[in-house]
Amino acid sequence: MRLSERPLIARAEIDECVRRLAREIAARYQDGGGLVLVVVLKGATIFAADLMRCLDVHPLRVEYIRAKSYDGTDSVGEVELIVLPDLSVAGQRVLVVEDILDTGRTTTAILSALEDAKPASLELCTLLDKVSRRVIPVNAKYVGFSIDDHFVVGYGLDYREEYRSLPEIYVLEPSSA
Ligand code: XMP
Ligand code: MG
Repeated sequence: MRLSERPLIARAEIDECVRRLAREIAARYQDGGGLVLVVVLKGATIFAADLMRCLDVHPLRVEYIRAKSYDGTDSVGEVELIVLPDLSVAGQRVLVVEDILDTGRTTTAILSALEDAKPASLELCTLLDKVSRRVIPVNAKYVGFSIDDHFVVGYGLDYREEYRSLPEIYVLEPSSA
C-alpha cells in the first residue's frame, strides 16, 4: 500500500470545512444550554481538536469513547467499545464526533450505548462519509465531506496505526496501482 501522490482533501479545504461545521453546530447549541462532545478515539482526535477551538458553544465539555472495528483496511464487522469511566451524559446534550462513517456499524454501536445513558439529545458529526458503503442507516446531522469508497489516511485516520499525523487526507492505494 502507498499514499496517493496528492492529497484527496487538502489543508485549506479541511480548515474551511471545520469552520463551516463549527458554525452549523454553534447555530444549534449557542443558547447557553451547554454541550458534551464525545470524541471517538483515536481517529477523530485531530478533527475534534480543530473543531472545538472554532466552536462558540458554552459550556463545552469534552469526553472520549474508544471504538475499534477495523483490521488494516477491512471492517471486521464486530465493534469493540471501550467507554471511559467518566462518561456520564444523563440529561446532557451530546454531540458524537467521528472521523469517518463507513458501514455505519461503529457509529450505531456508539449511538446506542450513549442512548442508554439517557442524554437530553444526541446528534452526530462526522468529518468524512463514505455513503456508498453504508450497511446500517445512520443519520449524521453534520457531515464534512462525502467521499467515494477509498481507504483514506491522515488528519487522524490510520492504516495499522500509521499516518495519523499527516496534516492532509490521502488515499491509500495498492502498491501495484
Ligand atoms: P464502520 O464500518 O463501522 O467504520 O462505519 C467506521 C470506522 O472504520 C474506520 N474506517 C476507516 N479508517 N480510513 C481509516 O483510517 C478509512 O478509509 C476508513 N473507513 C473506515 C474508522 O475507524 C471508523 O471509525
Ligand atoms: Mg482506524
